[in-house]
Amino acid sequence: MTEQASIIALAGAGGDLGGRIATALVRRGAKVRALVRPNLSPQEAARIEKLGATLVAADPNDVRALANACAGAECVVSALSGLRAVLIDRQSILLDAAAAADVPRFIPSDFSEDFTTTPPGGNRNLDLRREFMARADQTPLQVTSILNGAFMDMLGAEMPLIQKRIHRVLYWRSADQPLDFTTKDDVAAYTAAAALDAGAPRILRIAGDTVSVREIASVMTDLTGEPFKPLGAGGIGTLSMMIRLTQLLAPQRRETFPPWQGMQYMRDMFSGAGKLHPIDNRRYPDLRWTSVREHLACRKFG
Ligand SMILES: NC(=O)c1ccc[n+]([C@@H]2O[C@H](COP(=O)([O-])OP(=O)(O)OC[C@H]3O[C@@H](n4cnc5c(N)ncnc54)[C@H](OP(=O)(O)O)[C@@H]3O)[C@@H](O)[C@H]2O)c1
Repeated sequence: MTEQASIIALAGAGGDLGGRIATALVRRGAKVRALVRPNLSPQEAARIEKLGATLVAADPNDVRALANACAGAECVVSALSGLRAVLIDRQSILLDAAAAADVPRFIPSDFSEDFTTTPPGGNRNLDLRREFMARADQTPLQVTSILNGAFMDMLGAEMPLIQKRIHRVLYWRSADQPLDFTTKDDVAAYTAAAALDAGAPRILRIAGDTVSVREIASVMTDLTGEPFKPLGAGGIGTLSMMIRLTQLLAPQRRETFPPWQGMQYMRDMFSGAGKLHPIDNRRYPDLRWTSVREHLACRKFG
């Protein structure tokens, strides 16, 4: 008798992380059901289908339509991105739909540093995740949050720690604070494994690599042959002041990741409040993890 492939319903398959999760699920032999908007363009539909997913159209505001779309799935995975309208309102509808369809498990779009240990009120996007967690824990679903620190892909790119021109790596408070980084592909591979894991616990913490700014400077020195050094930008108090100032000067409150939000992330990383512990990397032993050195070696410097 041949075993039937598990069905995983995926919201946000058209997005950056969502597309990678779809690919990783297909690689693990799952049937991926991409929950897409009814008005999806043919080009976008073709792009998602190419990942190996089957498209099921359902209005994201319609619990019944979404429940029909989720029927028979082993797990609903959300890779949605946004603020309250998405992370609370839209994800809650998805959660209700999963429960109505008797889907046993749900993975919310958390994919962040540890919001169970950061102080409430200090990071808007993490507060939304905490609020959704409380809501999800009132359902009969087995919910698993995956916490991965910062996406490593941002290091040497949009995350402004590495200042290549002046050969410095910025830090606040301490150049020796351990910081968690995981590549998007590693997060996706792990999420796929967790989606297929009937025994996945409430929280899974992963870090492709954990390095301090001093270690990043040393890696940069090795890779470029030029001396990189840590550069202190102040303490956590200075960073908090910068956040308040940026919120005043450039509020951009409707944006998911305005500059002050990135700074709130930095504050939780450098204060150690969002540090992941313990690390569950080994739960799926077939996975391999990209180190910061490997990641930075793939980037061009000069
Ligand atoms: N830890 C980190 O460093 C880090 C960094 C970046 C992102 N993340 C997290 O990773 C997860 C996925 O992020 P991503 O960058 O892959 O997301 P994304 O590609 O920007 O968006 C994913 C999906 O969310 C829906 N969406 C996006 N903006 C929306 C809006 N304004 N209103 C309604 N729906 C919207 C869309 O789905 P539909 O087409 O179905 O509407 C989209 O395909 C999020 O939880 C994000 O916060 C973590």
